[in-house]
Amino acid sequence: MAPDNHAHDPGNRPGTGSEKRFVFPKWTNRLREASAVAALGGVVYLVVLVAGVFSPQNSAIGYAPEQPVPYSHALHAGELGIDCRYCHVTVETSARANVPPTATCMNCHKTIRTTSPKLELVRKSAETGEPIHWVRVHDLPDFVYFNHAGHVQSGVGCVSCHGRVDRMEVVEQVEPLTMGWCLDCHRDPDPNLRPRDKVTVMDWEPEGDAAALGAQLRTERNISPSVDCATCHR
Ligand code: HEC
Ligand code: HEC
Ligand code: HEC
Ligand code: HEC
Ligand code: HEC
Repeated sequence: MAPDNHAHDPGNRPGTGSEKRFVFPKWTNRLREASAVAALGGVVYLVVLVAGVFSPQNSAIGYAPEQPVPYSHALHAGELGIDCRYCHVTVETSARANVPPTATCMNCHKTIRTTSPKLELVRKSAETGEPIHWVRVHDLPDFVYFNHAGHVQSGVGCVSCHGRVDRMEVVEQVEPLTMGWCLDCHRDPDPNLRPRDKVTVMDWEPEGDAAALGAQLRTERNISPSVDCATCHR
């Protein structure tokens, strides 16, 4: 007679049959339910991720939308040498780097170029309180978590991800912002590490061996960027 392997054979249930095989304890039922829920969650999550790939908001290298005011980083951050943090004040402390409110512009423009037609909208905004609607340039899909403070505090300079903003009349995306791009640096951050007080200096170059300095800074600050999915997808 062939051995009876039928899983639902009542003879296999504890207490009912003489023939005792391995039986999972009762509490594992809850475990199984939990893993089913987790698996379902995973499927939904993947669908959301994949849907994100086809969303039109993924912008690319070279994207440089026209802005409502012809504000120039080449003039303000380049020629005039205003530090990035004068306007992007939250970049070292928050996930998001803010775009400055009109009041920041008016610190200077209530006395400088007060009749310039290029500043018409800025003056109007200051008068009415209606913010200027700057057009977003860099925009990761919503299913990706990014944090400025974490990078800037570790000594990754703006230039590593945004390029020579101090030479841009109009801000342009210069890096792909793809997952592969993030991971390339997370796997080997050394060439992109610099002293913390140089994070906004666009033309900073290490004196001597860049790789050695990077390795030294990484050890000193105990930096090891994670490549776990949950770091960027939470
Ligand atoms: C005087 C204020 C000011 C200074 C100084 C300044 N910025 Fe900006 N920045 C702005 C404004 C206003 C915008 C939004 C309009 C635009 O994109 O040009 C902006 C936009 C940006 C963006 C694009 C944001 C997006 O939508 O993706 C980046 C990146 C950026 N700045 C980086 C820098 C860096 C790096 C520096 C220093 C080298 C700097 N900025 C200095 C005012 C400033
Ligand atoms: C720290 C001072 C300062 C701040 C802050 C500042 N600017 Fe300026 N801005 C200047 C100076 C100086 C000039 C050049 C004036 C000249 O060419 O004689 C200028 C020129 C300009 C011009 C060109 C005007 C023209 O007629 O050619 C625009 C547009 C402008 N700024 C927009 C802005 C905006 C928008 C902000 C806020 C995001 C801002 N500025 C913040 C100092 C400042
Ligand atoms: C490690 C890469 C990296 C570094 C370093 C970095 N940025 Fe960004 N920046 C990004 C990414 C990615 C985005 C888009 C974020 C998003 O869509 O959520 C962004 C967006 C921005 C924005 C638009 C507002 C926002 O937070 O989405 C501004 C302004 C900006 N960066 C300024 C700066 C300045 C100034 C520095 C240096 C002090 C800097 N960034 C350093 C990668 C970086
Ligand atoms: C040029 C190098 C570089 C690039 C590009 C880069 N990172 Fe990072 N990232 C780092 C470093 C360095 C750290 C700090 C790790 C540490 O402190 O151990 C970090 C840390 C992080 C952290 C954890 C820190 C926190 O604040 O939560 C997240 C999340 C993160 N990166 C997301 C991203 C994403 C998303 C991208 C791409 C859009 C990206 N990074 C691109 C270098 C980089
Ligand atoms: C350092 C940050 C980072 C880490 C770690 C990371 N991702 Fe991503 N991931 C991204 C970014 C940024 C995008 C968006 C890319 C785009 O818009 O082109 C993305 C996109 C995706 C997508 C959409 C398809 C695609 O390739 O664009 C999937 C699926 C995905 N990630 C899965 C994962 C899995 C699974 C892991 C772990 C093995 C992981 N990610 C680890 C940053 C990260």
